[in-house]
Amino acid sequence: MKEEGLIGAAIEARLKAYAPHSKFKVGAALLTEDGRIFTGCNVENSSYGLSICAERVAVVKAVSEGCTRFTDLVLVADCEGICTPCGACRQVLFEFNQNMNITMLNLRGGKLEATVRELLPEAFELDH
Ligand code: THU
Repeated sequence: MKEEGLIGAAIEARLKAYAPHSKFKVGAALLTEDGRIFTGCNVENSSYGLSICAERVAVVKAVSEGCTRFTDLVLVADCEGICTPCGACRQVLFEFNQNMNITMLNLRGGKLEATVRELLPEAFELDH
């Protein structure tokens, strides 16, 4: 099943997170229209502002492999509530598909679902 594979991929990607500064590990898995999965984890840096979120790592990996059409993204973190994408990631996801389905999960059974457009209403668009 599409969603189960994506969830497993995001959980596995989270284990690879490089987060020695925040200790907050995040995993993401992005599904392309043609069924490919690209994963990402957050990669932090001693110069904190250089850290990059799991979602953007997944997008950059996919785009650099020639894939730009995404349908779904699963985001996984270990927190009491639900970790939602930061503003920068919302804008980056919006660039590729404002109707993309975002599933946000914690490791305790919590789940939230939204489209990118719902997460980023009135987003900036160069064409408008
Ligand atoms: N982080 C993500 O990777 N994705 C999110 O959606 C929220 C935050 C990362 C960035 C940083 O490495 C750590 O979580 C704490 O902010």
